[in-house]
Amino acid sequence: MKILVTGGAGFIGSHIHRLLLDKGNSVIVYDNLSRGFKQSIDSRAEFILGSLNEKEKLEKALKEVDAVIHLASYIAVGESMENPFSYIENNIIGTAYLLEAMRNTGVKKIIFSSTACVYGNPDELPLTEDSPLKEPTNIYGFTKLTIENLLKFYHKNYRFDAVILRYFNAYGPNELHTPETHIIPNIIRAVLEKQPVPIYWKGEQIRDFIYVKDLASAHLDVLNLKDFHIFNVGTGIPVKINDLLEKIFKIAGYKTKIKDMGERAGDVKATYASSDKINKIVGWKAKTSLEEGLKNTIAFFQRQEK
Ligand SMILES: NC(=O)c1ccc[n+]([C@@H]2O[C@H](COP(=O)([O-])OP(=O)(O)OC[C@H]3O[C@@H](n4cnc5c(N)ncnc54)[C@H](O)[C@@H]3O)[C@@H](O)[C@H]2O)c1
Repeated sequence: MKILVTGGAGFIGSHIHRLLLDKGNSVIVYDNLSRGFKQSIDSRAEFILGSLNEKEKLEKALKEVDAVIHLASYIAVGESMENPFSYIENNIIGTAYLLEAMRNTGVKKIIFSSTACVYGNPDELPLTEDSPLKEPTNIYGFTKLTIENLLKFYHKNYRFDAVILRYFNAYGPNELHTPETHIIPNIIRAVLEKQPVPIYWKGEQIRDFIYVKDLASAHLDVLNLKDFHIFNVGTGIPVKINDLLEKIFKIAGYKTKIKDMGERAGDVKATYASSDKINKIVGWKAKTSLEEGLKNTIAFFQRQEK
């Protein structure tokens, strides 16, 4: 297949486009490098430096494409609250440009990166795809929920095949966000630099950490689905932040001090997925243990430090 990956130069997109190439697909990475890195793009991929709102460039890029994997987005929750308009413009309007370019060129298959944020503070765990969606607590979550609704509309009215993947907490090599708001790279960096580890909520929160290569493989598994689907993509394993920290200390072979950061607005206390639905429909399951994933991630950051 020929696949266009928006945001393919970013953390998760870099793994997805490489896996697509490894499996014999041809790939176009479409990215404006606002948050991604040229060196994360595999040399086998065609790279187009472009933004979602560059209509003509996007339509030209979509010629003869079979499917779009849409990751291009701003992703920082705190930043989204400080500058809501840039998130609405980049994520929602950007996606509207993409959907129209797809409609104009007859490309009608899209896989979209959504997030567990759409469930807000859950009443019951694990979260299934039928769990209630809550009013978003931040603009980032609002943009993702709005895009999910847009996709449902394009499926119903313009016969798009759309798959929404609700990622839980992705981690792994190539995670180089600035600023970094995700816990695993922040803990690892602090430990490698022998600095105090910033921890919110006294480390009592619970999360579902999905290794990025497992997450990437879910995109390939859903590529041939028709109609409209929503899937959670997580491990189903709840992990307390304090236990995560202990695992990282164990792999590093030493401990550093903790910097108590208190509470953080907008955080949910506990979240983890049921990924039974994607397992039942396409056979996807997370394979990498947290220990193995952390070892690979720590090795990546050690190479970065050199
Ligand atoms: N990282 C996570 O844990 C996580 C969790 C849930 C959902 N997601 C979603 O997964 C996707 C990828 O996340 P990531 O962590 O790889 O982020 P990232 O910031 O590393 O990658 C995003 C990429 O999109 C590009 N981009 C942004 N706006 C663009 C635009 N208008 N036009 C063209 N390119 C643009 C950036 O340059 C970057 O390369 C995002 O949609 C994010 O919301 C991520």
